[in-house]
Amino acid sequence: FTSRNDGVIGANVAYKPVAESTNTEATMGLAQKDGEGTVYIVDFQTKGRGQRGNYWESEERKNLTLSILTYPAFLDIANHFYLSKVVANGMVQALSEFGIAAKIKWPNDIYVGDFKVAGILIENGLMGSKLSHSIWGIGLNVNQHIFNSNAPNPISMSLVVGGELNRDEVLQAVLGAIDGWYAKLRNGLLADIDAYYFGALYRSQGKFWFEADGERFMASIKGIEPTGELVLEDEKGALRSFAFKEVSFII
Ligand code: BTN
Repeated sequence: FTSRNDGVIGANVAYKPVAESTNTEATMGLAQKDGEGTVYIVDFQTKGRGQRGNYWESEERKNLTLSILTYPAFLDIANHFYLSKVVANGMVQALSEFGIAAKIKWPNDIYVGDFKVAGILIENGLMGSKLSHSIWGIGLNVNQHIFNSNAPNPISMSLVVGGELNRDEVLQAVLGAIDGWYAKLRNGLLADIDAYYFGALYRSQGKFWFEADGERFMASIKGIEPTGELVLEDEKGALRSFAFKEVSFII
């Protein structure tokens, strides 16, 4: 990869052909005090990690598997979900540069239609009530066409646009877009971040079936709390907040 970025995110890019997990590479970078916005990227992960203890599988040299190390010491822990919004907004914006209309499936999936094109894995470090560091792991399906049957509903950018994409160009777009949203966060432009995020939110319009604690109910999405809880309005007009893992879409 030759892509770099003029801003904070991706000013330094540490490439290796193979590693266990780029999030682990970033943790090692943290230990040696690598700078803000350093990107760790590989062609293949032997132990790629997904959410909820899942594996992240990605065919060698087909996709993007990378992690970004940041030190958002300015951000209060109560606002930690803005980091997820920064990454998700950046992903949606980057995909739009390739003509792909992606959506954010709360809390950390990027969808095209009803298919998952990317996943985000954020690992935060705390110092009192502030964030000492944050590692943003991104797995983006770029040119992969055949997927393991236990991957739920995968798609790649290439399957959407119908042609092979240049991974370096996609990387450049991803780093540039995330850099722009991270700059907005540093400048306190939270309303801008919220507006783009909600506009890109999967199923933000209309009523859908949800399941929480064995209960099924119809609800519409009202918003996302700064700490990341999903706020739903049920059919009786009651507002209910749910953390990740507490609630899921049924279909
Ligand atoms: C998910 O959807 O479950 C999140 C997937 C995150 C995968 C990326 S690939 C690069 C980085 N390194 C990892 O081990 N995981 C993240």
